[in-house]
Amino acid sequence: METFQGDDAGPAQLHPGDLGWNMRDGAASAAKVLRLWSHNGDPIAIGMLDTDTDASVIRLAVSPTVGDDETIATRIADDLDGRDLLPQEPASAEVRFGSALQQVLRDRGWTDGDGWACFTSDLSHPTPSHPVRKAVVDGSAAEGVPDAVVHDIVRAHLAAWERSTLTVKKWHEMAVGPAFRHGRFIVLYADDVPVATAAVWSAGPGRPGLIEPLGVDRDQRGRGYGREIVNACAAELRDMDASSMKVATPVTQWPAVPLYEATMRRLPDVPDLVRPTH
Ligand SMILES: CC(C)(COP(=O)(O)OP(=O)(O)OC[C@H]1O[C@@H](n2cnc3c(N)ncnc32)[C@H](O)[C@@H]1OP(=O)(O)O)[C@@H](O)C(=O)NCCC(=O)NCCS
Repeated sequence: METFQGDDAGPAQLHPGDLGWNMRDGAASAAKVLRLWSHNGDPIAIGMLDTDTDASVIRLAVSPTVGDDETIATRIADDLDGRDLLPQEPASAEVRFGSALQQVLRDRGWTDGDGWACFTSDLSHPTPSHPVRKAVVDGSAAEGVPDAVVHDIVRAHLAAWERSTLTVKKWHEMAVGPAFRHGRFIVLYADDVPVATAAVWSAGPGRPGLIEPLGVDRDQRGRGYGREIVNACAAELRDMDASSMKVATPVTQWPAVPLYEATMRRLPDVPDLVRPTH
């Protein structure tokens, strides 16, 4: 899946980091929502069913080796049209890469659904230094993670995401997942209080990295910590030799859109594609 992440110019497609963050309910639960298409023994597309919603949504990563392949696109589109893969109505697919699949779905009557604001940052220049104290958990490091830092990450995350169910146990489930070997979790402090947290995920040197998730404590917003943690994410991904940093957020996600607009380069918005109901 890392090798699918070659497109620095376009929006982020489903990334190893999405799978990594989804590991917090355990490997079995993460595997249950994954779908894999292969061709001649090679993986060519990976789908992750979004279980946060009642409707059927599948988020896809398509290999650049088959992005323009109409035969393969038609085969995948047959699966997306069928009710085995996406049983509920309405159903939609996130296809941010793979022009052939996008075209086949549109030809079959799939229409624009929820819009995503997509951002990218060039990492070729150093990011501004941060005066704010931070702690970083590096998933590739052999040494154990201090309990206090994990507690601070979970505390800051819960203070940022009202409906989050993250716990220390779930954080550790995520951290033992294979994707976190290429991931880092960051927490920012103000006067020893954890105020913001984010995770970054590399897809290997020379490929785009991803931010997922990122948040600032509700009581600490509007003080520049959002900007600081985006910069901290860029510094970590640069250190991991990522070629760019990407993030996507619903166009309705306020004020994430203005934060990313202030700190990254906005790409054209991308809609999910909604299956026609017959
Ligand atoms: C999005 C979020 C991280 C912003 O954090 P923050 O600490 O308030 O952001 P900052 O104070 O650093 O603001 C940085 C810039 O973002 C923009 N911004 C932030 N909040 C804004 C608001 N309410 N209205 C308009 N612009 C805003 C501004 O351009 C601001 O720069 P400025 O202060 O120089 O004008 C925070 O609101 C949050 O955690 N939201 C919930 C989780 C979330 O949506 N995460 C991102 C999706 S992955």
